[in-house]
Amino acid sequence: MSEQRFFRYLQERIGLDVESVGAPMVERALRQRCLALHAANLDDYWLRLQQSPDEQLALIEAVIVPETWFFRYPESFGALVGLAQKRLAELAGERPLRLLSLPCSTGEEPYSLAMALLDAGITPPDFRIDGIDISPSSVAKGVQGFYGRNSFRGTELAFRERHFRECGDGHQLDERVRRQVNLEVGNVLDPALAGRNGQYDFVFCRNLLIYFDVPTQQRVFEVLKRLAQPQGVLFIGPAEGSLLARLGMRPLGIAQSFAYVRQPADVPAVPAQPPRQQPTAVAPSRPRPAPVPPARPQRVAAPVTPAVEVRESESELLASITRQANAGDSAQARASCHRYLRQFAPKAQVYYWLGLLSDTEGDAQQALTHYRKALYLEPQHAEALLHLATLLAAQGDQAGARRLQERAARAGRESER
Ligand SMILES: C[S@@+](CC[C@H](N)C(=O)[O-])C[C@H]1O[C@@H](n2cnc3c(N)ncnc32)[C@H](O)[C@@H]1O
Repeated sequence: MSEQRFFRYLQERIGLDVESVGAPMVERALRQRCLALHAANLDDYWLRLQQSPDEQLALIEAVIVPETWFFRYPESFGALVGLAQKRLAELAGERPLRLLSLPCSTGEEPYSLAMALLDAGITPPDFRIDGIDISPSSVAKGVQGFYGRNSFRGTELAFRERHFRECGDGHQLDERVRRQVNLEVGNVLDPALAGRNGQYDFVFCRNLLIYFDVPTQQRVFEVLKRLAQPQGVLFIGPAEGSLLARLGMRPLGIAQSFAYVRQPADVPAVPAQPPRQQPTAVAPSRPRPAPVPPARPQRVAAPVTPAVEVRESESELLASITRQANAGDSAQARASCHRYLRQFAPKAQVYYWLGLLSDTEGDAQQALTHYRKALYLEPQHAEALLHLATLLAAQGDQAGARRLQERAARAGRESER
């Protein structure tokens, strides 16, 4: 198919695994760009793409998923503060802490890191944060520091009062936070990043690996590992944990923080012992915030149903599950899922949420069961297909994972038609 060369190009240039976002999404971006350039056909567009670095960027902008918000995965920021205080004490003023957010998208993640550290009383000279993203327009937006409603989600918004000032239809970030963060355009696959090897105490790489195929994930993971200090901590997204465990990292055991360190054998120097270290990430008695499903264009389920009375309460319950999960209230989200299953006919989306909750708690077996139930009810459920694929890949079943990814891509194509 004539699109294949574009898929390969995007794979080589930014690591994008077209199967993971679905071919229709990339095909749509290609159509958009052809229209914008008045290209006669894909051959014509291919030539122009080769000749124009600006067009290459425009295509990349058209396929990336910039979805992000402040304090996404709230518990990870609490975990960071504890670890940062400990590391600062070890450094004893030798140098400031260095943090990296890659990809930083429009800046919400690195600015959240800065706000968390400042709120914990860590002073500005004691830390520096770099944010890197491949999208120039996202980085430019981050540099402006002006944010609309979508960047503030959940109910814990006191930070907005402390660090922003209301301005028209949005909020402007305070200079004090902005100064702590340096945002720049960059590619995680760029070999020049090696110039920063060993620089960072904390590396945040969340919701990027899910868009890569397994070999690219491994390659990026090696990059991240080298960017971090030997005893550095790597924070990832909830759907990416099983992968890291397979690649020789161990979870710090701080619930819902998705924080990983190297296995002891892999650390050349004596590692600093992180606080509250446990053998697994599961701490059943603690309430956990729920994961937020990775954003995939065209695939986020919007459980809205018409207004017959009983349907309405069903849709309300589904909306509550989504809200509770997005607010990080995992215990409530789980309870609501079970309430739903008691009151209404089984639904794929609810099993999918339960799968994601188990997944983030490190219970792969339970997650597999829930994802499979979701697929039994709705064989084309794209999110369940992709998450199950990630789990199978983490367990070494590459063929099974590939089959599910292909199924998800086909489902995406059919839904577009
Ligand atoms: C979903 S956002 C994640 C933002 C943030 N880390 C979070 O979890 O909220 C994914 C970002 O990855 C960026 N990206 C995609 N490929 C990249 C690459 N090869 N190098 C750097 N950034 C990349 C995109 O531009 C997009 O802003």
